[in-house]
Amino acid sequence: MSFALEDLPYAYDALGPYMSAETLEYHHDKHHLAYVTNGNNLLEGSGLEGKSLEEIVKESYGTNAGLFNNAGQHYNHLHFWKWMKPNGGGALPGALAKKIDEDLGGFDKFRADFINAGVTQFGSGWAWLAVKDGKLVVMKTPNGENPLVHGATPILGCDVWEHSYYIDYRNARPKYLEAFVDNLVNWEYVEELFNKAV
Ligand SMILES: [Fe+2]
Repeated sequence: MSFALEDLPYAYDALGPYMSAETLEYHHDKHHLAYVTNGNNLLEGSGLEGKSLEEIVKESYGTNAGLFNNAGQHYNHLHFWKWMKPNGGGALPGALAKKIDEDLGGFDKFRADFINAGVTQFGSGWAWLAVKDGKLVVMKTPNGENPLVHGATPILGCDVWEHSYYIDYRNARPKYLEAFVDNLVNWEYVEELFNKAV
């Protein structure tokens, strides 16, 4: 396979006021594109050319740092665009809400723990909701890492690299994470990944 940059699933100005067109233009058209371009260059001759993106991410982890960073970020971003939608946030689909109650102590505790994971990720990285051994877990990872390389399946992730929020929120990472959970998350897509993972 080779990596390709898909169009955003909504207009550049569709996530305002929580995420601006300027942020999406830089983040999707420049940052994500760079991961795709660099990833394709590094994939060539790596021995992983015939593998799926998930396999490339897992197999390059710890063995090919350059390829892993770019393939990981490509994987993370292609889901990140789908993890958001205009008028997102709000009520969760029933089965997912029930599982959050069972495994994470309810939505309010999940919300606080997810935001805290993003706030306390030192430097660049991601906050995650993932499925591990049949249970939901909140995680955080540095740089381009994701739950795939820790034996878990990501179903929601928030990019806490500064390129994701600095134009709109400056240094206020907590405000960005609150807006992400409350106003941007596409819970239907999270549910789709949850159903596949369990
Ligand atoms: Fe990013």
